[in-house]
Amino acid sequence: MRKEKREKKPKYAIIKDIEIGEGTRVYDQVNLYKCKIGKNCKIDAFVYIEEGVKIGNNIKIRAFTFIPEGIEIEDDVFIGPGVIFTNDKYPRARGQWRLLRTKVKKGASIGARAVILPGITIGKYALIAAGSVVTKDVPDYAIVAGNPARVIGYVINPKFRKKVKEFLTNGPGELRGKRADWPWP
Ligand SMILES: CC(C)(COP(=O)(O)OP(=O)(O)OC[C@H]1O[C@@H](n2cnc3c(N)ncnc32)[C@H](O)[C@@H]1OP(=O)(O)O)[C@@H](O)C(=O)NCCC(=O)NCCS
Repeated sequence: MRKEKREKKPKYAIIKDIEIGEGTRVYDQVNLYKCKIGKNCKIDAFVYIEEGVKIGNNIKIRAFTFIPEGIEIEDDVFIGPGVIFTNDKYPRARGQWRLLRTKVKKGASIGARAVILPGITIGKYALIAAGSVVTKDVPDYAIVAGNPARVIGYVINPKFRKKVKEFLTNGPGELRGKRADWPWP
């Protein structure tokens, strides 16, 4: 009997009218509708992606993330678990509303449970701390944290780079993943 491969059809999922690139893995119980997802991405369980969302290549989206219409995500972006994007600044259950678009630039990472308010640009290689509420544009390479999120550093700061390198080589915990090109700028 043929062994079922992980890339096979996700179970209990609603996937309709989407474009999906080669090598992209989609896990169970997702809801993906009229969106475009690039190559070599990983979409974990319980991810909800709405109409018109554009997602680049090599993106990792962890479980329970919500990405509504109007969001564009460039290549090499990491989106942690439970990240909430929004697109309506003044929401009401009825009447008109304005869709505000958000862009996440190449290489950025968004920590667990961050909330991204509508109409935001997250700069390239920026790092959003876990639990942040992002209310303003995030500059390229900035590390932001808190509610409201404030700049607490830059990923290109030599001290920060050294700290991350040291953490990966000699830090606590277990080393996981495949060796790859250095993913930081
Ligand atoms: C943002 C982050 C990278 C900062 O790491 P760091 O540069 O090593 O920061 P430190 O741990 O040295 O903390 C620096 C300061 O920022 C604060 N800080 C760190 N993370 C924070 C967060 N998520 N929210 C608010 N403040 C935070 C610390 O309390 C500390 O404040 P202090 O100087 O007043 O004591 C890290 O804390 C983080 O949130 N990573 C994301 C984890 C995640 O969500 N992973 C998803 C995969 S499971």
